[in-house]
Amino acid sequence: MNIERIDYKKALELKSLEKESIDFKFYPNCQYIGAFEDGRLVGMVAWQMVGQSLRLKSDCVLPAFRKRGVYSKLWVAREKATEGIRRASDTAFCTAMSLGMYLSKGFVKGKTNKYGITFVKRSVK
Ligand SMILES: CC(C)(COP(=O)(O)OP(=O)(O)OC[C@H]1O[C@@H](n2cnc3c(N)ncnc32)[C@H](O)[C@@H]1OP(=O)(O)O)[C@@H](O)C(=O)NCCC(=O)NCCS
Repeated sequence: MNIERIDYKKALELKSLEKESIDFKFYPNCQYIGAFEDGRLVGMVAWQMVGQSLRLKSDCVLPAFRKRGVYSKLWVAREKATEGIRRASDTAFCTAMSLGMYLSKGFVKGKTNKYGITFVKRSVK
């Protein structure tokens, strides 16, 4: 598997995952990392600054490639890519499928909306 930066246009190749609550709107300050299997984009993670927070977003892997650690590798790559960014906190809106990952990384649960999306946050020192 290859992990590398991708642009918004490439990220749109995963648009089938919009039905799983992934946001595919264009944000000029959003950055993406993709995971490739045999040259095919199979997953991604993204981030953008929102005020003083680093918003982690668009975490997704195509169904046929799940449960083999693709997301875990993308998570590590994003931590590395963002470690130098000065911010007060990291935040995300999680589905039930990614909540476990966020909680294991020190995020604290906030409110869950009627669609089952939970706001999570961790402070950054
Ligand atoms: C959430 C999501 C990105 C996870 O992707 P993934 O590549 O399957 O994630 P991983 O394989 O790294 O980890 C998922 C699980 O597989 C397990 N796993 C990892 N490697 C494994 C392996 N080789 N064999 C068996 N299980 C494995 C992990 O322990 C983890 O278990 P858990 O869910 O009980 O914690 C994916 O399910 C997805 O795209 N969901 C739909 C979109 C979504 O909800 N995104 C979150 C938006 S905030």
